[in-house]
Amino acid sequence: MNRHPAYPKGYSAYPRGSSAFSISPNRFQPRSQPAFRRRRQLFQRLILLGGISLLLAVFIFPSWRAAILPAISLGLLHPSSDLQLQTVRYYDLSEVQGTEKGWERGERVLMLTPLRDASSHLDMFFSHLRNLTYPHNLIDLAFLVSDSRDDTLEMLTTMLEEVQNAKDPKMAFGEISVIQKDFGQKVQQDVESRHGFEAQADRRKLMAQARNWLLSATLRPTHSWVYWRDADVETAPPTILEDLMRHNKDVTVPNVWRPLPDWLGGEQPYDLNSWQESDTALELAASLDEDAVIVEGYAEYATWRPHLAYLRDPYGDPDMEMELDGIGGVSILAKAKVFRAGVHFPAFSFERHAETEGFGKMARRMKFSVVGLPHYVIWHKYEPSVDDLRHMAEMEMERQTREREEQERQLAQQKEGSQLKAQDLTNGDAAKGSDEGPAAHPLKDVKGSSNK
Ligand SMILES: *[C@@H]1O[C@H](CO)[C@@H](O)[C@H](O)[C@H]1NC(C)=O
Repeated sequence: MNRHPAYPKGYSAYPRGSSAFSISPNRFQPRSQPAFRRRRQLFQRLILLGGISLLLAVFIFPSWRAAILPAISLGLLHPSSDLQLQTVRYYDLSEVQGTEKGWERGERVLMLTPLRDASSHLDMFFSHLRNLTYPHNLIDLAFLVSDSRDDTLEMLTTMLEEVQNAKDPKMAFGEISVIQKDFGQKVQQDVESRHGFEAQADRRKLMAQARNWLLSATLRPTHSWVYWRDADVETAPPTILEDLMRHNKDVTVPNVWRPLPDWLGGEQPYDLNSWQESDTALELAASLDEDAVIVEGYAEYATWRPHLAYLRDPYGDPDMEMELDGIGGVSILAKAKVFRAGVHFPAFSFERHAETEGFGKMARRMKFSVVGLPHYVIWHKYEPSVDDLRHMAEMEMERQTREREEQERQLAQQKEGSQLKAQDLTNGDAAKGSDEGPAAHPLKDVKGSSNK
């Protein structure tokens, strides 16, 4: 059945080239003179070219957008659109990658320090801060004050005001953030409890959370580097930022030792969390529960890993690098891109590790470079353990006893001397000798030796 009797030949929606419906400008429009046509074509091309280059320019130079858009719109856009544009921040993250000479390229460093009952360390910490040679205006500081029962926050505020208002204009740092948040860290802050094996896994998981909070609250698009630094570092080169940066690795840590009293050997490796993976440790990890957290440096987990700390040679090349899997948190320089890519401090068992050790493992897993410098050493403050304190108290008592005995012996000698003097008044030289001569010295010697 033919449904379209009116159009017996059918009807095409689109005019065919040769059909009667075809609209051909050649046929129906008056022909223009060739010269006039050419000029018109040229004109059209010029306008097209101009339009395209303007569009390209707006894409290539985003800052032009704000300048050009209102002009193009001839004020037709709502006036409030101007205000909205001012609240837009544009960041080019390819500009903040982090390079080996960041201080020359004006690269910003975010320096992060977690604080907990740390008021006794703050003087020393700020001395380190003031001594840093990296341009201070390029360093943003961020502190997390958590679970503190002392006056850490008050002291911190005072000292920050001091350093920011210092006479030397080069002293003041960039942006400073102080963040206060408790994480329910219940472990006592004394050395015994902090380093006891039982408490380690839970303590480390809470520390991990604290670090993640501090970082995510303060990392800005302008930062190229992130430097984690504990407050209880006693000795470190003021050039440490440049020294670590020069290696141009994604994550770099120095070796961390601590000084000891002579009777304990003078010095000792401190940070055992920086290590290379070993087969024994991998076997151990495979044998453990999924949620288990291996903590280094305890007899309970004998991992036989090569530790950065034990590889130190006091005369070794401080620039030597060693690839690491786990790292400690006393002093970490990392490119900000590592964190932006999603590497963090696991507050759970990641490959049987948590916090900074887990961070190292995660960074490696994401193909970032993680290195330690075995012969570049910073020194952690020595805090005597309860055993050390007991031993020191015993030594002190011994010293006092010895001193008392010595004094008594001397008194007895002096008495003898004065008796002699009384007996022989004519010998003045002998009387003088008893005051300044050898008899007066043993007491001094005892004091000197016990102080060493
Ligand atoms: C900072 O530098 C001064 C002057 O050189 C020095 O006396 C002080 O010990 C340094 N501070 C630290 C924590 O190293």
